[in-house]
Amino acid sequence: MFPDLDSQSAALNARAGRCLAGGGSRSTIRTDPYTLYIREAHGAEVVDVDGNRLIDFINNYTSLIHGHCYPPIIEAVRRQLPNGCAFSFCHESEIVLAELLCERVPSFERIRFMNSGSEAVMNAIKLARAFTGRPKIAKCDGFYHGSYDPAEVSLISGAENSAQEDPPSRAYSRGTPQSVLDEVVVIPFNEPQHSQRILESHADELSCILLDTTCMRLGGNLVREDYLAMVTDVARSHDILLIFDEVVSFRLGYSGSQGVLGVQPDITALGKIIGGGFPVGAVAGRADVMSMFDAPVNGVAPLPHGGTFNANPITMAAGVAAMTDMTPASFEYLNSAGAKAREALTEVFKERGVTGQVTGVGSLFKLHLHDRPIVTLHDVGVSSESQSQVAALRLRLIDGGIFLGSGCFGCVSMATTDAHIEQLCTALAGALEKTGS
Ligand SMILES: Cc1ncc(COP(=O)(O)O)c(C=O)c1O
Repeated sequence: MFPDLDSQSAALNARAGRCLAGGGSRSTIRTDPYTLYIREAHGAEVVDVDGNRLIDFINNYTSLIHGHCYPPIIEAVRRQLPNGCAFSFCHESEIVLAELLCERVPSFERIRFMNSGSEAVMNAIKLARAFTGRPKIAKCDGFYHGSYDPAEVSLISGAENSAQEDPPSRAYSRGTPQSVLDEVVVIPFNEPQHSQRILESHADELSCILLDTTCMRLGGNLVREDYLAMVTDVARSHDILLIFDEVVSFRLGYSGSQGVLGVQPDITALGKIIGGGFPVGAVAGRADVMSMFDAPVNGVAPLPHGGTFNANPITMAAGVAAMTDMTPASFEYLNSAGAKAREALTEVFKERGVTGQVTGVGSLFKLHLHDRPIVTLHDVGVSSESQSQVAALRLRLIDGGIFLGSGCFGCVSMATTDAHIEQLCTALAGALEKTGS
């Protein structure tokens, strides 16, 4: 079934290569030798243009918390569509989604919407710089925060270099100006002593510390408590703003990962699930910080922020429908399905006698082909050999009817059932057998 170089997907890849730069509009979804084209998707399943059915364990990279085509979302969008999809006026649905989210999360005193998680991270950083008047940001080595220049710095980590204790500020995209690299202080995740030393040596210039509490590259485990405590202390004692990137981790609970961890960041960047499957981003946080967006009458805000499609009523309607149905009981179901998946997959590695492990928290999971404990970036396989083994496993899983994200990262949705998890395990067993690993 996969790969099939005579398939319609393969033909569409060739056609796309003739008109689309890079063969498509999203580097992060590419698979080799070709990327699948999907015909339709319902619940936990997608069907490709060749009629192959796959159980979707990535759900548009964690954004579809109810799976595909959740009826209440379709209904909410269907109600809105004939009444307009975007206008240069306000719409009440923006307030409804804002109220819903602010009621759930104590640190969300105000919120503002945009169209992607990348924009949310960008605006969170701009907000911190506007509020503090300081130029620099700190972020963790190897962490992904979307495509804003400073947020991309050191996405390809320096972990394989000798300077592990002081990760270098490295460009990810060709053409990144040196001035951007100079504004980003890179710290090693979950290494409190080194990070504290680095943060304190730049404290006077730092506007914010940008943190993802569940980096998938590191297996999606929660940040170590002592590390989070150190980051919070340094931020508080030097008036540096703490930004949580909860674009993914907001799915950990009713109040996001900050609710699970019991920490209130100054600013939170959101995206994915809050748009009910439509393009979305949001920045939420302390009222005094968020007041940077306030414009005086006939004047300009300290941090002006426009966006043609910001808070468009389609996204807002879908977001309200999606989040309304994510009650505390729904998060319990989701997280217990995630735990079941992790346990069952771990059992497959054991039964097959294959060295590997399954990490993650809540509804997230990640497969690894080694059993080293994963705490810092140095514990994950950064060599191209280990990466290509995981990539090969992912392709064999596609052949077995299972779709995971790159690096064998996955998530369950509200549409995931025990039967889907069983099929995932059967496919993993088959895929491991084929490797002979
Ligand atoms: C942690 C994190 N932050 C930010 C982003 C960027 O979000 P978007 O793809 O909506 O721009 C992502 C996307 O996957 C992400 O995982």
